[in-house]
Amino acid sequence: MQQQPIIGFIGAGNMAGAIIDGMLASGYPADRIWVCDRNAPKRDAFAAKGLQATDDNNALIETCEAVVLAVKPQVLKQVLEPLRDAFQASKPLVVSVAASVTAEAIDRWLGGGFAVIRTMPNTPSLVMTGATGLFANDAVDASEREAVEAIFSAIGVAVWVEDEEALHSVTATSGSAPAYFFRFMEAMQKAAEEAGLDAATAQQLIVQTAMGAARMVEQTGETPAQLRQKVCSPKGTTEQAIFSFERDNIDDVVARAMQACMDRSRVLSKELAG
Ligand SMILES: NC(=O)c1ccc[n+]([C@@H]2O[C@H](COP(=O)([O-])OP(=O)(O)OC[C@H]3O[C@@H](n4cnc5c(N)ncnc54)[C@H](OP(=O)(O)O)[C@@H]3O)[C@@H](O)[C@H]2O)c1
Repeated sequence: MQQQPIIGFIGAGNMAGAIIDGMLASGYPADRIWVCDRNAPKRDAFAAKGLQATDDNNALIETCEAVVLAVKPQVLKQVLEPLRDAFQASKPLVVSVAASVTAEAIDRWLGGGFAVIRTMPNTPSLVMTGATGLFANDAVDASEREAVEAIFSAIGVAVWVEDEEALHSVTATSGSAPAYFFRFMEAMQKAAEEAGLDAATAQQLIVQTAMGAARMVEQTGETPAQLRQKVCSPKGTTEQAIFSFERDNIDDVVARAMQACMDRSRVLSKELAG
């Protein structure tokens, strides 16, 4: 595959938009990106950025060396099956962002024989700080891996897993995880307001602190445990908060939530593979 393949997106919604914005920001030529969506306003918005926008999936598949599947998982099978002949005729690299749909199911719906890369991005991709897990089936070659990794690296970090089962763990660790942090922030917001801060002040402090803590882990090279110990002076205030978390078994609370997420991911994968 060339360094910059012609790449097409079936479904031009939120996730396709985030990926495309990242591609454009990293210098990917707009005229080598196609989108197909059934909504004219979405097509027009992408056409205004210099992309090729169409309502004809067959034309997109015929032209593109890589096709990104970016429709909702529940409709993916019904979108793909009528396109089977077009896919078989040109055999593009298939890249899926659809949560929980296995590479095997996608390949089967398309009639078999495809190089498929399955990805698990997360919502911070929308603000260019995504975390994406990638899995390639055996038909994918090294240059295809490289090209797709470059695309997802443009909207954050991209990591490969060699066993598709590990995408369930990625789902629990990053795919669904923004919501865990949002939930923690909600709880802090509530407690801060109950302690007398106004809502805007509380939110400003919480958001800045969340970003600061993440950046410290990223930039100092120290582990979260080391950084936590550094701010916990003996008999100080922070230590008391951490003791309270430990009494409430925070490790168990988080582990159970992540297990519930993985369990649901496995059930959905089975349901969607039909
Ligand atoms: N959003 C996220 O943060 C996120 C995170 C991880 C993974 N994902 C995955 O990304 C995928 C897309 O999610 P999204 O949030 O971007 O969805 P979305 O905003 O609903 O975008 C999907 C788009 O595809 C269009 N579409 C449906 N059928 C079509 C067809 N046959 N041909 C062309 N276009 C068609 C939809 O039109 P209608 O609206 O008219 O149906 C919609 O505009 C999902 O599979 C999801 O699992 C999303």
